[in-house]
Amino acid sequence: MTKSVFRPPATALAALAATALAATALVAAATTTASAATGLGQLAAAKGRYIGTALANNHLGESAYATVADREFNSVTPENEMKWDATEPSRGSFSYGGGDAIVNHAQAHGQSVRGHTLVWHSQLPSWVSNGGFNAATLTSIMQNHISNVAGHYKGKLYAWDVVNEAFNEDGTRRQSVFQTTIGDGYIATAFQAARAADPTAKLYYNDYNIEGINAKSTAVYNMVKAFKQQGVPIDGVGFQTHLILGQVPSDLQANLQRFADLGVDVALTEVDVRMQTPADSGKLATQSSNYNALTKACLNVARCVGITLWGVTDKYSWVPDVFPGYGAPLLFDDNYNAKPAYTGMGTALGGTTSSPSPSASPSASPSTSPSSPPGRSCSATYRTVNQWNTGFQGEVTVANTGASAIGGWTVIWAFPNGQTVTQLWNGTLSQSGANVTVRNMSYNGSLAPNASTTFGFTGDWSGANGAPSPVTCAAS
Ligand code: G3I
Repeated sequence: MTKSVFRPPATALAALAATALAATALVAAATTTASAATGLGQLAAAKGRYIGTALANNHLGESAYATVADREFNSVTPENEMKWDATEPSRGSFSYGGGDAIVNHAQAHGQSVRGHTLVWHSQLPSWVSNGGFNAATLTSIMQNHISNVAGHYKGKLYAWDVVNEAFNEDGTRRQSVFQTTIGDGYIATAFQAARAADPTAKLYYNDYNIEGINAKSTAVYNMVKAFKQQGVPIDGVGFQTHLILGQVPSDLQANLQRFADLGVDVALTEVDVRMQTPADSGKLATQSSNYNALTKACLNVARCVGITLWGVTDKYSWVPDVFPGYGAPLLFDDNYNAKPAYTGMGTALGGTTSSPSPSASPSASPSTSPSSPPGRSCSATYRTVNQWNTGFQGEVTVANTGASAIGGWTVIWAFPNGQTVTQLWNGTLSQSGANVTVRNMSYNGSLAPNASTTFGFTGDWSGANGAPSPVTCAAS
């Protein structure tokens, strides 16, 4: 079996170019993985899904922000630009500048757009929330808002979050101005207005803390079930998925499936996984495995159409503003370096593929050892951190053993007992049969003399879990 493994983004590839060249002749099986960069959106598209990001118009002028957004994502959601306060700040006066800019940018870069959001209690101008309208008038104001905004974008959006966050944690209705003035029926009325305004957009109900099976998600489930029975035009449910580190609900997949079984699409619409800052390698590893798990949960549900991250970079995440002491919830750090979470998600998205020819399996030892340019050298030290039934966690320390700084490294070993790496962080992985090649990320390739860095991984084993030897390192 040949495994080609998820590639890092182009920025990381650029840093790896010299290393990859040095290794090309030495690890023929692995070189098939060192071609052009593959963004998350492309990986998802190959599976008929999308990977999106919230996009903020005021950051699009920052080239790194736009570069990463355009390279990695094939769907975007305006973070704030289509909300009520932006689109109808005063009654009957509509403004679409920010939303149009996002749509134009997305169209120019082949990205679909999820509209967000038509009816929400937050970012709602006070002329609506404090207007003192009666039910008939507020219904008409809501219908007029939907008719204008969804009408303006008619035919241009993949989907709309028609109503956002209408339920409390206990499954009762949130006492928004729409709920208290119009009553339960406002949600169905909003969906009917959205369908009339844009017949081709998929119409979603969107909420947070509904990722697992609980009182809130069950209330939403019951509403969707009733809507389907009554012919209310709902096409999908958005699970925002604002998670805390280590808390991916174990029943996420089962919950997505029960909604899909009602006959609606499902999507993870605002994903982030926040941690107490500062980040460290352990938290980043957990975050990577959380992203891996939530991505797999979606992929395992046929009607889970895609995943949207709630931002491009940690630098601009909403999290620290709302949860002081928490942050670093996304795939790219403040400097646009891909984090371990990027690899966790990418691996789940099919960065690993199998070749059709078992005869391609190489022998259980590297055909040759990597070499370093004169004056540059490194060492790699392998250890098994932990081991259980059929799984284990390993760690490799890479040290600069030369007198010169190095700009990158490649570590190669052959497993003696058929072990398989299932997930790896702080490096980019290729495994072909027993042979494993790991190259540095953009952020940990440069090492001063005597400096070291580590990467970690989890793997599967059976029978025996012997440590590989030799474990070789090539510097560049
Ligand atoms: O535009 C003003 C600017 O003029 C002003 O100088 C500045 C001062 O604070 O505020 C700016 O507005 C901010 C706006 O984002 C645009 O940046 C608001 O203060 C700020 O509250 C607002 O936060 C947004 C938040 O929704 C509001 O509820 C976040 O960016 C956005 O990420 C967040 O997104 C929501 C989803 O829509 C729904 N689900 C939850 C998610 C996270 O809260």
